[in-house]
Amino acid sequence: MGSFNFLLLFVGVLCGGSYAQLTHNFYDQTCPSFPNIVRREVKRAIETNIRAGAKLIRFHFHDCFVQGCDGSVLLEDAPGIDSELNGLGNLGIQGLEIVDAIKAAVERECPGVVSCADILAQASKDSVDLQGGPSWRVLYGRRDSRTANKTGADELPSPFENLDQLKKKFEDVGLDTIDLVALSGAHTFGRSKCMFFSDRLSNFSGSGEPDPTLDPTYRQELERACTSPETRVNLDPTTPNTFDKNYFTNLQANRGLLHSDQILFATGEADTIAIVNNLGSREETFFRQFQLSMIKMGNIKPLTGTQGEIRRNCRRVNDLGDEAGHDVM
Ligand code: HEM
Repeated sequence: MGSFNFLLLFVGVLCGGSYAQLTHNFYDQTCPSFPNIVRREVKRAIETNIRAGAKLIRFHFHDCFVQGCDGSVLLEDAPGIDSELNGLGNLGIQGLEIVDAIKAAVERECPGVVSCADILAQASKDSVDLQGGPSWRVLYGRRDSRTANKTGADELPSPFENLDQLKKKFEDVGLDTIDLVALSGAHTFGRSKCMFFSDRLSNFSGSGEPDPTLDPTYRQELERACTSPETRVNLDPTTPNTFDKNYFTNLQANRGLLHSDQILFATGEADTIAIVNNLGSREETFFRQFQLSMIKMGNIKPLTGTQGEIRRNCRRVNDLGDEAGHDVM
């Protein structure tokens, strides 16, 4: 190997260093029951509210896209914390109380050991496979941030963006076009408020006409369902609570709900069309790619080692009083 190639390899290993520190066995000694506790709590949450899993995986996505998978999305407003929850991209996000319940159960068993960021990664996997989707081995070792980045949350991918803008936002965090299409497949479950697509029903891009890439029968159904901008409808009109490949077959039938969904199939000549066709052809193909893309997303810039902290309460950074185990007076 030439010395230049060797240097590149060396730099690559250094840059990838934070990836390498996430491991499957991170909690084997300190909290071996952690995956089981999370799974039990996610199952319970889904039994109470069928949308719970969808809410959890959306949190993980929004966490990882803003300053890496570090639990920053969960922090509420506090002195020095401008909460990401108030960012534009987090409009409508729900489910913080589900994260609280999971965290409380984990803390009861292993206090101060498991990060909120790892809980989101694990809960996302459970949410998917408990609703019929694939399972994968989650990597652990992420730590929680002591900062939030509201501006980053303002800039999360938006349903009103075009394909190039979406691709760019994924590229910026190290995800490629295949990841964009596969991960969008998470819209096979969960709901969206009408405000995120109502422009497509009647006045698309100020044209005074509906979006031409929206199936007319589906449009009528949506018009009937959307009695207010706040109403929520199924992201997948065929199997709304099941994790399957129907997201992609919906796109093939012009039944993608959000503009950002349908453009994956409707942007002329786009490379995403072939990817949609491929992922929509066999469930195994989608599931295999989804696992890979989820692991890749979960690896975005984690805090590891002595960076950040293990929050006791996912909504707040620990203060010195918490760390010392008593209240600050
Ligand atoms: C490609 C860019 C994406 C855009 C523009 C986008 C946009 C949206 C919007 C507008 C909603 C509705 C929010 C609401 O009404 O509360 C939503 C819901 C959802 N998104 Fe995405 N999303 C994207 C990618 C993803 C990814 C990568 C995932 C996960 C891997 C994901 C998972 C979900 C889920 C599960 C829901 C339903 C949540 C619920 O029922 O509360 N999305 N998304």
